[in-house]
Amino acid sequence: MTTVLRNVPEMARWSAETRRLDLALGFVPTMGALHAGHFSLLERARRENDRVVVSLFVNPTQYDDPADLEEYPRTFEADMEMIESAGVDTVLFPKYKDLYPDDYRFRVTESPFSEELEGGAREGHFDGVLTVVLKLLNIVRPTRAYFGEKDWQQYVLVRDMAAAFFLETEIVACPVIREGDGLAMSSRNVHLTPEERRLAPEFHRILTGGENPEILRRRLKERGFDVDYVERRENRMLGAVRIGKVRLIDNVGI
Ligand code: PAF
Repeated sequence: MTTVLRNVPEMARWSAETRRLDLALGFVPTMGALHAGHFSLLERARRENDRVVVSLFVNPTQYDDPADLEEYPRTFEADMEMIESAGVDTVLFPKYKDLYPDDYRFRVTESPFSEELEGGAREGHFDGVLTVVLKLLNIVRPTRAYFGEKDWQQYVLVRDMAAAFFLETEIVACPVIREGDGLAMSSRNVHLTPEERRLAPEFHRILTGGENPEILRRRLKERGFDVDYVERRENRMLGAVRIGKVRLIDNVGI
């Protein structure tokens, strides 16, 4: 049976109790609208820890476009079903004022990586992500926190923030989970029309097809995608494209 905690002091008490019992605590931060990609994070957290916490919070500070924030699917009942079936112990389901008593006067800013790629397309996005993740890690104080490599830039920024601020939590990266045809699982996929959905897996197929970003950009354009970027970072090829109204991101190892 999963317990839902709706405020910070309750969560902090439960977490303190977990530490007192010397139990390993796994944490999966989410914005809800859970899909198979999230489920793989929950399963891994369940396997590697004694207790598991999931947060459900659609974080407004990481959106520069109010319409985008409005459109984010809210599916609490279905999320709870998945969470229960993964054997999660506790859900943190806070309100804005619980997490932002300061109304976002204080924030975490990174430069320059957070201004590139996703940060270039969405101003202030990673300030919002890093700030809410730091708040959540300070409240939950987990042994390990799990992030999907689908949002590879987010994972790298969180990993580096944890190192920069000497956080005790281990930041764990989990591989991208894909549909059978290669499309990376995403809460945005529900917004694709059937025709767009048929085209979408071509994004991943083309991204895996070479090491020269310029050539990949051209191939994507020829196939009908509106290309935001294709760039290489560390050992990965990262891309963002638009099909109609939907923006998709993906990345593959090279
Ligand atoms: O990846 C997400 O769902 C969000 O960016 C996160 C990490 C839960 C912060 O709001």
